Amino acid sequence: MNIADAKAQLINKGFLDVDTDPTVDLFRAIEQLKQEKNAIILAHYYQEPDIQDIADYIGDSLGLAKQAAQTDASIILFAGVHFMAETAKILNPNKKVLLPDLKAGCSLADSAPTELFKQFKARHPDYVVISYINCSAEIKALSDIICTSGNAEKIIESVPENTPILFAPDRNLGAYLNKKTGRNMLLWNGACQVHELFSVEKITRLKMRHPEAKVLAHPECEAPVLALADYIGSTTQLLKYSHSDSAQAYIVATETGILHQMQKDNPQKIFIPAPPNNNCACNDCPYMKLNTLEKVYNTLLYELPEIHMEESLRIAAKKPLDRMMEVSKAAGLIG
Ligand code: 13P
Ligand code: SF4
Repeated sequence: MNIADAKAQLINKGFLDVDTDPTVDLFRAIEQLKQEKNAIILAHYYQEPDIQDIADYIGDSLGLAKQAAQTDASIILFAGVHFMAETAKILNPNKKVLLPDLKAGCSLADSAPTELFKQFKARHPDYVVISYINCSAEIKALSDIICTSGNAEKIIESVPENTPILFAPDRNLGAYLNKKTGRNMLLWNGACQVHELFSVEKITRLKMRHPEAKVLAHPECEAPVLALADYIGSTTQLLKYSHSDSAQAYIVATETGILHQMQKDNPQKIFIPAPPNNNCACNDCPYMKLNTLEKVYNTLLYELPEIHMEESLRIAAKKPLDRMMEVSKAAGLIG
């Protein structure tokens, strides 16, 4: 396919729909392309196992942002969703940042449309705006500081006690943080479609069948699910906990992709995905799972789709990300 055809296809489909020779060993071919092009693959834990296995770095949003800021590769292929690749671009204006499928969005990021948020913010001029990293570059540009689930408490602590805070876009993470920090942040009413679907009834029933199992939950889950949890944390924190903790079985209330690393790190332990409140595979993030090994291969081969951004937006969105990095470093959360 020539580049003009490829670009035209991206506008419609969001990814390169190229027939890949089925005899190609994708693992080897991707490895070769990475060497040839000085490319690095950063993958989130929610990616399919094959993508996790070919990644140079797998992590949570905080770890991925840190890696993106530090890499000296010429090309960053981001195996994750759009706001993550956008964050990598904000931090690396001179590098080529690729995302295998431009339609890999995020329901949580989509729950904060820029214009509405701008108006909401204008009604609360005295508030410091903390935005969860799961938001668009435009929302980041309207924020004072960014946080992830791995550093949110430290970010909140960095704001003087009596300064009012507006927290966006996740109401569940915001409510959890209000409880943990004793603050009374004003919450934007957004949520993640995957983390809101876990069934308290089914998890409770599962606990009755596996009384020895501990419940691990991501703070994007709703309060009743979090109330059942033995441990709450970012994906990296959940993974670390499952490794250092002595229990032998866990019910995991977050996207199923994380189970691959949990199982790899702890082959003797049992990991059970927390069930959603119906029979669909809703605890698979439909956006994360748009990326496939074939798409990763074609993306590296054609160096498309690429993330582009207006420089003025990038500069405005970088400021609150830089603040996040400074606070995280000072708190010893990143090196
Ligand atoms: P983590 O930063 O914990 O990996 O979370 C990212 C995410 O999208 C959760 O849904
Ligand atoms: Fe967004 Fe939810 Fe998917 Fe995470 S799991 S990327 S918050 S839709």
